[in-house]
Amino acid sequence: MSTPLPPADRTDRWWEELRAGRNRLRGRAHLHSDAPELSLDGTWDFRYGTRADGTGLGEPGPIEVPGLWQLQGHGAPQYTNVVYPIPVDVPHVPDENPTGHYSRTVSIPADWTEQLAAGARVLLRFQGVDSAAKVWIDGAEIGVTSGSRLTQEFDVTGALSAPGEHVLDVRVVQWSANTYLEDQDMWWASGIFRSVDLLLRPVGGIHDLVTDADFDPVTGRGTLTATAFGADGEIVPATVRIPELGLEAAADGSVIAAGEVAPWSAESPRLYEATVSTGAETVRLKLGFRRVEVDGEIFRVNGERIVFRGVNRHEADPVVGRTQHLANQDLDVALMKQHNLNAVRTSHYPPHQRFLELCDEAGLYVICEGDFESHGFHVDSTWGEDATGAAERPAADERFRETLCERTERFVLRDRNHSSIVMWSIGNEASTGPVTEAMIETVRATDPTRPVIYEQDYRADHVDVFSLMYADHAESEQIGRRELSEEYVDKLTGMLHHLGVDAESYSSDEDPAPALTKPFLWIEFAHAMGNGAGALKEYMDLVHRYPALHGGFIWEWIDHGLVTTDAEGNRIYGYGGDFGERLHDSNFVADGLVLPDRTPSPALLDAKHHYSPVGLEVGPASATLVNRYAFSDLSHLRAEVSTDLQETWQELALPELSPGASAEVALPGGEHAAVTVRLVTREADGPVPAGHEIVAASHVEAERLAASVAPAVSPALAPRQEADGSWQVGPARLDDLGRLVGLGDLVIEHAGADLYRAPVDNERARTRYPLEARWKRIGLDVARRRLVGIEAGAEQLVVRSRISLDGNALHADVVETWRADADGAELAVSVSPSPLWPADLPLPRIGWTFALPSAPGEVTYEGFGPHETYPDTGGGTTFARRTATVQELQVPYVFPQENGNRAGVVRAVLSGGESAEGLELTAPEGLGLAVRPWSTAELDARAHDGALRADGRTWVTLSAALHGVGSAACGPVPLPQHVLSAREESFRLRLAPAGR
Ligand code: GAL
Repeated sequence: MSTPLPPADRTDRWWEELRAGRNRLRGRAHLHSDAPELSLDGTWDFRYGTRADGTGLGEPGPIEVPGLWQLQGHGAPQYTNVVYPIPVDVPHVPDENPTGHYSRTVSIPADWTEQLAAGARVLLRFQGVDSAAKVWIDGAEIGVTSGSRLTQEFDVTGALSAPGEHVLDVRVVQWSANTYLEDQDMWWASGIFRSVDLLLRPVGGIHDLVTDADFDPVTGRGTLTATAFGADGEIVPATVRIPELGLEAAADGSVIAAGEVAPWSAESPRLYEATVSTGAETVRLKLGFRRVEVDGEIFRVNGERIVFRGVNRHEADPVVGRTQHLANQDLDVALMKQHNLNAVRTSHYPPHQRFLELCDEAGLYVICEGDFESHGFHVDSTWGEDATGAAERPAADERFRETLCERTERFVLRDRNHSSIVMWSIGNEASTGPVTEAMIETVRATDPTRPVIYEQDYRADHVDVFSLMYADHAESEQIGRRELSEEYVDKLTGMLHHLGVDAESYSSDEDPAPALTKPFLWIEFAHAMGNGAGALKEYMDLVHRYPALHGGFIWEWIDHGLVTTDAEGNRIYGYGGDFGERLHDSNFVADGLVLPDRTPSPALLDAKHHYSPVGLEVGPASATLVNRYAFSDLSHLRAEVSTDLQETWQELALPELSPGASAEVALPGGEHAAVTVRLVTREADGPVPAGHEIVAASHVEAERLAASVAPAVSPALAPRQEADGSWQVGPARLDDLGRLVGLGDLVIEHAGADLYRAPVDNERARTRYPLEARWKRIGLDVARRRLVGIEAGAEQLVVRSRISLDGNALHADVVETWRADADGAELAVSVSPSPLWPADLPLPRIGWTFALPSAPGEVTYEGFGPHETYPDTGGGTTFARRTATVQELQVPYVFPQENGNRAGVVRAVLSGGESAEGLELTAPEGLGLAVRPWSTAELDARAHDGALRADGRTWVTLSAALHGVGSAACGPVPLPQHVLSAREESFRLRLAPAGR
């Protein structure tokens, strides 16, 4: 089908209007009604061009609605975090403006005609159009949208009144005045990306509905108010019913006693099916009775202090981007619940409405955020000390007041019936000023029942809850103690000034900030980019210590990588710069707890452990449990213990433990080298299946463990030198330079002490901790070895060498002592960095590396797993014997980096892939083990996981010590206890051909 375009009007620059759209109906609740609806999703006609006025649009072709056109072959996505991709020239945008003109025909279903004749209205509803659209029917203007992630409705009754087919045209532009308000850290991509529907609105129907289901934790009774509104905002006679409670009353805003009710909380998301009816229409909803309060410095739900074990969630998918498959939303909520998350911030816009229903049903506390960020005003290139020439930020620009308040009201109106929403946020990173103050007041006027939060109100002058992003542990502790150091006050004051806010002081005797009288949470923390974030445990320790600290929201849920191919044809997850963008922020868009395809990254497993609602520590004879639920006891959980390495579980009796209580539980006696305790669910609960592990931890008896794998070198064989200068020590063969080159029939390559690991995202150039550049500047990634000397004794061979670096005198002395019997060879290594090593320059690692010349097979290891561990991560790993393929041991981080280390490994057997021969490795004191199909150099060189090339070898990396991964991509550097300072390190291992 190809329909004529609506009449061109070059004078109508609708996309640059600051007012809030044209002709839209006021926002209202998204209701499930028995009134007829017609979905307009599907294949539309699409013409693509680069001028908003429609000049030069291309030939029509098909496009899917909902969808983003950049992901359907038109134009390209672009990723920037902060900076605007267009000039800051409010409210104007460049002439070249990617534009998509959508068309389709619409006809009114035959069975609507009777109601239409009786005065029913027809609404055209768009649930999400990025960034602005003008709508026509049969060439006549219907209106203009404003707010990409907001529902917009137009009354199209008149336009569709004539019988037959009508032509619906929607011209969507990528750049509009809205762009200045929608500078979120995500892909710039455009189109009708959420559903479009036609709604029949019956005469006497329920146009809008507001409910408030309150629970009194003292009496255990609920009350309900429900108010049904007609299209003109008038209260319409309607009845609310909750059959389960025998409740039937007028939905006229009066308070209805609901009697004894089971309350809603994230722990037990009890919902009651309700209907609200007029003679003409019935809407269905699920109501949860709960009370949300800010009580001094404590945030309470149903009377109890709540800890937010949360995450920030963007809408992302590797193929369709911000368009949401319903299945993705189910999966996200299921994964969150299965990993002990209890809260979500809908960063940085209201989500697809189904997501909030899922949060109601599964039990997640939601901070619902408005569609607003103007971060780019703060990095405007003219923004200097005196701010000369800087554009006025929207927060203080009166021209934006109407549209920003309207968008605030619109999202609150859509979502206020959701039990899961416990707070509203007006937006993200948009400074403060009279306009943001008005937005906060708009929230309060629209929904007085919930607290308001907005991070950049750094003094918490206007909000109910104080929050910051990426406060480090020491700063957070000051907030917890309610005593800020002068230095921290200066820093916070500086942050305000940076936003252009003229704050005299953050906190002084005359002018104390209200922040320290309010509950606090990290609106963002633990930046989960690549391998990390480290030190989540230490954050949660603070939450358990200081009542005013209410937890927070990890940044962020998902990597936004987009499926594409690189120049060599590899299938990769693309990030900023992979789509030809001039201006971009590289892989900063890939910083989630789940990979782009929603595979949990180790960070999610670490978070699961530190977010566990039951604290668990295992000692030699007992386990200590702390019930950190706000409402539940532990009767829904079964405790189990395993004292072998096969994870053979026996039940452990659990004492009754009310919220907040702790107990010590005795473990079975015996000479166990390792004991593991876990708690699993007894029954399925929503998306959490029966038998699901909530938390697990191990205790290891180091001496017993060491004894179980202690090398037995007796009698030790004398080293023998061959004619070519090489050495034989039992089955081990060393070349004339003292490097291991064989073991029995196995060829060994690239063996030797090693100080390097591939840098992680938190160590790259644009972080607060650009270690990569420092490591590479001194040549640590290409260190040289020099043999110092070999001494043969009767029972051992001592090889002394030096690792040194190009262009400088830094080095480390290495002593390798080989002892062997007929079955295997034991190696003791000591590494001593030179005293010159700069005190502030951590080493990446201290360890020993080698490669087997055959492609990898399987690895069986006894150590901590199943996921990776670094000094500041690895929560939830337990000690057991496990078998994994080498592929399973890799973490396919979007940007390749160090990964896959299993900690405390005392024994590993590498089965020999293609060659039959394998290798057994033992390390009585435990070593970190990573086994890879590629070298560290390969891991370090590639920019996309899909570009990594296996080289046919099995690379084995043993680490005696590793530098912590931290969170410095956007957060703190590793804590002192996780820093690997250049220090002497000794370790031992034994290598034997497997099977002997
Ligand atoms: C915050 C911002 C987020 C994201 C994050 C870094 O400043 O609010 O949207 O950009 O940093 O990944």
